Amino acid sequence: MKIGIIGAGFVGRAIAELAIKTGHQVMLSNSRGPQTLFSLRSMIGCETGTASEATLFGDIVVIAVPLTAIGQLPVSALSGKQVIDAVNYYPERDGHIAELDKQTTTTSELLSSHLPGAKITKAFNAIPMTQLVSDGLPAGNALRRALPLAGNDIDGKRIATGLYEAFGFDTVDAGALSEGWRFERGMPSYCVRMTKDELTISLDETRRLDPTVV
Ligand SMILES: NC(=O)c1ccc[n+]([C@@H]2O[C@H](COP(=O)([O-])OP(=O)(O)OC[C@H]3O[C@@H](n4cnc5c(N)ncnc54)[C@H](OP(=O)(O)O)[C@@H]3O)[C@@H](O)[C@H]2O)c1
Repeated sequence: MKIGIIGAGFVGRAIAELAIKTGHQVMLSNSRGPQTLFSLRSMIGCETGTASEATLFGDIVVIAVPLTAIGQLPVSALSGKQVIDAVNYYPERDGHIAELDKQTTTTSELLSSHLPGAKITKAFNAIPMTQLVSDGLPAGNALRRALPLAGNDIDGKRIATGLYEAFGFDTVDAGALSEGWRFERGMPSYCVRMTKDELTISLDETRRLDPTVV
């Protein structure tokens, strides 16, 4: 599969490395332009390009930018694309966003409102990238870690599940994109090692945070 990645920081690089190791082709992009990614081409073995070029390159596109950058994504190129959303909300980094603080929306629905026509699956947000690289185990290992996803597109979920599997993780489907709050920052399973059974129970038992404490 060809994977375009917008964002070449911790997330973009980790997913690029794992994707290439598992047989995919990758184009990485950032905000400053491909010339600033020169050394990554040989280090990771990926292509580099602009965000629009990475979008056109990819059968799927991973969004790996700060939440503050989602208004600068190539909207028309992303329309109709399978998009994996790894974005998280940290008010101390991103500034306060009222509808997220009030929990009237989720980060993925916010992204979706910026990207009409994109088929968004929330995945890869609930694990530190150091652990994405280190924690993968073969299928069937009793200790295998599971990762959550949410989305409205069956094909998108199949694609994200395939990447989790290839990288050494089980998948737990939290439901529609609007259910993505269950594994946003601050929730019990966020960035916590859990097996498939543990994560299934945790997502099911998760309740919204009290907005007054956000
Ligand atoms: N770090 C983790 O372990 C982790 C795990 C899961 C999820 N996340 C989430 O994933 C997102 C990325 O995290 P990160 O740690 O990878 O951040 P990071 O290391 O700061 O990297 C951010 C990347 O986004 C690029 N970028 C910023 N604005 C852009 C734009 N308008 N167009 C294209 N590229 C743009 C930056 O490029 P320039 O440098 O050229 O501006 C940089 O390559 C965040 O929302 C984060 O919360 C992080």
